[in-house]
Amino acid sequence: MHADEAALARLKAMQLCANCHGPQGLAALPRTPHLAGQDQDYLVEQLRQYRNGRRHHEVMSVIAKTLSDQDIVLTSSWYSSLRISVEDKN
Ligand code: HEC
Repeated sequence: MHADEAALARLKAMQLCANCHGPQGLAALPRTPHLAGQDQDYLVEQLRQYRNGRRHHEVMSVIAKTLSDQDIVLTSSWYSSLRISVEDKN
């Protein structure tokens, strides 16, 4: 992604998504999935499905209907670009 496109993607995610999914894609609220590092195509597909009604959730369906195709691609690419690490404590 181009630097200014990445900056726009980050800004959109901060404005539209971070309250619930966290500024770094680790969700701040219960029953809210982490998005950091998730597959980009998966994220795009879920957002399109919320928008077109194939997937339904009382909050996400409302939000998705306000998103343009560009919003969907940008926010998905932002969350997908974040790198996470996992610790197995067992
Ligand atoms: C008001 C809180 C809220 C906001 C704001 C919000 N989300 Fe969500 N999001 C949720 C919740 C709650 C779920 C779980 C929905 C479900 O169970 O289907 C969810 C689910 C999702 C999923 C499905 C994840 C999966 O693992 O299948 C994606 C993708 C997603 N949100 C992306 C976004 C994006 C991108 C934005 C910003 C444009 C956004 N959300 C804004 C609360 C929010």
